[in-house]
Amino acid sequence: MAGKAKRVLVTGGAGFIPSNFIRYLLDATPYEVVSLDALTYAGNIENLAEVMAHPRLSFVHGDIRDAALMRDVVSQVDVIVNAAAESHVEKSIIEGASEFVTTNVEGTQILLDAARESPVERFILISSSEVYGTADYAPMDEEHPLKPRSPYAATKAGADRLAYSYFVTYDLPVVIVRPFNNYGPRQHPEKVIPRFITQALAGEPLTIHGDGHASRDWLYVGDDAEAIVAIIEAELAAVAGEVLNVATGIDITISDIADLVLAALGKPRSLKVHLPERLGQVDRHIGSVDKIAERTGWRARTSFAEGLEQTAAWYRENETWWRAVLEREAERAAGRAGAPGAGASSSSAPAQRS
Ligand SMILES: NC(=O)c1ccc[n+]([C@@H]2O[C@H](COP(=O)([O-])OP(=O)(O)OC[C@H]3O[C@@H](n4cnc5c(N)ncnc54)[C@H](O)[C@@H]3O)[C@@H](O)[C@H]2O)c1
Repeated sequence: MAGKAKRVLVTGGAGFIPSNFIRYLLDATPYEVVSLDALTYAGNIENLAEVMAHPRLSFVHGDIRDAALMRDVVSQVDVIVNAAAESHVEKSIIEGASEFVTTNVEGTQILLDAARESPVERFILISSSEVYGTADYAPMDEEHPLKPRSPYAATKAGADRLAYSYFVTYDLPVVIVRPFNNYGPRQHPEKVIPRFITQALAGEPLTIHGDGHASRDWLYVGDDAEAIVAIIEAELAAVAGEVLNVATGIDITISDIADLVLAALGKPRSLKVHLPERLGQVDRHIGSVDKIAERTGWRARTSFAEGLEQTAAWYRENETWWRAVLEREAERAAGRAGAPGAGASSSSAPAQRS
């Protein structure tokens, strides 16, 4: 590959964070990008529509659990960013954990084994701050105990530690990245910020689990993309086998987010409505940002006010996108309601998630 631009495999490429990351890779780096996605309910090929014809982007419609395909794809790339996942906390609680275990854990194992067979320069696993559970102390650094509280978080913790074991056991150049709560354009409206924005735009109530005191460290997705590139470009010795939080170091409660969204969109505060607390809820999440700054020089640079303004503007201008996603979601819910043993899912209010 000497003299050639790196080829970066981004799994889950049609999802929220990965599609924003791919745009950033194409804009800000010379890398070639292979985007791979199974196009589950969460994957939306529309997320890549304007860049699909880009000469440095190729798209593979495939599943990370397909070992033969992963061996083939991995043999052609230099860097792996494994971002494919079942990513919705509430889905893991209500619909069951099976897909979470197979995609998040087994899919990661299959990719790690493919990288053992065809060595890569770097294997970046997108883990999650949800692996920490509720903070024992704040801000949470990378040494914070892992106490995942939902099936989603437990599968992310499984993949996170599995990747680490391949560094220790096989010397695979693994970096484990734990982003805190991302928000920004193209996020599925099942997640709390786009849900609040789309509910407010539609003049519907903004539903909050519990009293809304749960807080998160909200990271603008464009800042997350910059962090992952900084990790690809850092000295290997500074990051190999390491866990790196990607966070802002500031937390904001769900209740305050609802207020900020309503204020940003000029809607009345009376649209805020409280529901019973969610099972497996995490109380407070705030990330320590010192280690990633020290190892890569990266720091988040978008303030929440700026990020929310850009996000709200995107949803205002892309109503067709989110209305189509909501329609597909309603069809999926109707399909589930008709399926055997589907009783528990009917109460599903979209969730506050990682
Ligand atoms: N959104 C957040 O705030 C956040 C925070 C921390 C970590 N993460 C992690 O970042 C990654 C991306 O999250 P997101 O919010 O963009 O999720 P997303 O649900 O929008 O995207 C996930 C993508 O993975 C694809 N996918 C699912 N199963 C697959 C499989 N078996 N094979 C191939 N593709 C598959 C889906 O089709 C989808 O396009 C995930 O690993 C998630 O756990 C997200």
